[in-house]
Amino acid sequence: MDKIRIVGGNELKGTIPISGAKNAALPLMIASLLTEEKLILENVPRLADVALLQRILGNHGVDITTNGKRNGDDPYAGQTLEIDARVIVDTTAPYDLVSRMRASFWVLGPLLARIGVAKVSLPGGCAIGTRPVDFHLDALRALGAEIEIDAGYVVAKAPHGLKGARIVFPKVSVGATHTALMAATLARGDSIIENAAREPEVVDLADCLIKMGARISGAGSSTIHVEGVARLKAARHAVLPDRIETGTYAMATAMTGGDVMLAGARPDLLESALDALRQAGAEIDATNEGIRVRRNGAGILPVDVTTAPYPGFPTDLQAQFMALMTKAKGNSRITETIFENRFMHVQELARLGARIHLEGDSAVVEGVERLTGAPVMATDLRASVSLVIAGLAAEGETMVQRVYHLDRGFEKLEEKLSRCGAQIERISG
Ligand code: EPZ
Repeated sequence: MDKIRIVGGNELKGTIPISGAKNAALPLMIASLLTEEKLILENVPRLADVALLQRILGNHGVDITTNGKRNGDDPYAGQTLEIDARVIVDTTAPYDLVSRMRASFWVLGPLLARIGVAKVSLPGGCAIGTRPVDFHLDALRALGAEIEIDAGYVVAKAPHGLKGARIVFPKVSVGATHTALMAATLARGDSIIENAAREPEVVDLADCLIKMGARISGAGSSTIHVEGVARLKAARHAVLPDRIETGTYAMATAMTGGDVMLAGARPDLLESALDALRQAGAEIDATNEGIRVRRNGAGILPVDVTTAPYPGFPTDLQAQFMALMTKAKGNSRITETIFENRFMHVQELARLGARIHLEGDSAVVEGVERLTGAPVMATDLRASVSLVIAGLAAEGETMVQRVYHLDRGFEKLEEKLSRCGAQIERISG
């Protein structure tokens, strides 16, 4: 298994190109199931999760062509996928694939809406919390689906098609909003989705569906209206920039000090995280090129944050912000309200010398003068990258194990950081 070796202490200086968002690319690829015509997606990041979803869609009979790179192309430019779901040969998503990536469960809504049947494995356990799928199933039931659970599979039918309905989510869920939105586009009649997720990835999905001929209004607010249509058509759409990758590199720069341009990043997608970084002492400027992040001699100030659905502070940046706070001049409190078990990085950060103790759903971080390198590992993507950030600011060598977590969500991580002066390399094992 590959490892990442970091020798900490260097400031970051230079430009980091921001990739297309993983969490937008995945639902956009799944939306291809809603039409017999071709969906062309640009700016798709090259990530293990994208490759796995290509396999999962391939299993349903979807044909995906990836445009190859030509000499002289920007090595950091995203890929273009041409996705053709004209023929669906299989409406089952098996356990061995769905259990490897939870987002693949989202094929349920589109398959049901277009074909009228789907059998999708329940995703199973997850390192960051229990993560049930009841909101997805309730939304599809509201749209008229008959759903049973059989031997670990969700077996769903809508023999006469789905019917528009009012769907009220008890709690904000990104994935269940994707499911409801995709299914409602092909339902007969009008749907209203209330307490919908307002995340930029939901807006990106809605924008693409609208290009495909869907009638949607209100995406980005908590109430989304969908007027069902009989069929969707071909479209071309570019994936929006990754706000979590942006926030991660912004936090890395705040942690090490230096001056980095996050090229292609959009500040409007992560205002709450940028505010927290400003309070911590980083200088953040929006420019035509992207977001410039700087921190010079001044130390890191402690800042309390609480994760919340968009536009609140994202749970997917909680671990990275905690890494930053480990070197703050004072105590900070980080509260996680989305997932109940998303503190797996705490014990690993402690191995680098961080002082953190847990109080229920909060972590109290007592800033220390210095961190020291150590071998570490993590059980999920964002926790893993928080260890990379801490390693960049630690004295000596940090070896991050289980790099496959990082490969799920960060394109060319070590290249992007070493271009800015970090001492970081992948060791193949
Ligand atoms: C998406 O997961 C993201 N994944 C996650 O990013 C992200 O952390 C999360 O949204 C929250 O922002 C993708 O977009 C692929 P939710 P999702 O449904 O949709 C509860 C990463 O690192 N819930 O918004 O699965 C759930 O348990 C990943 O890139 C139910 O109770 O998250 C949680 O407490 C990790 N029943 C809350 O809602 C349901 O049926 C929000 O989860 C569904 C969710």
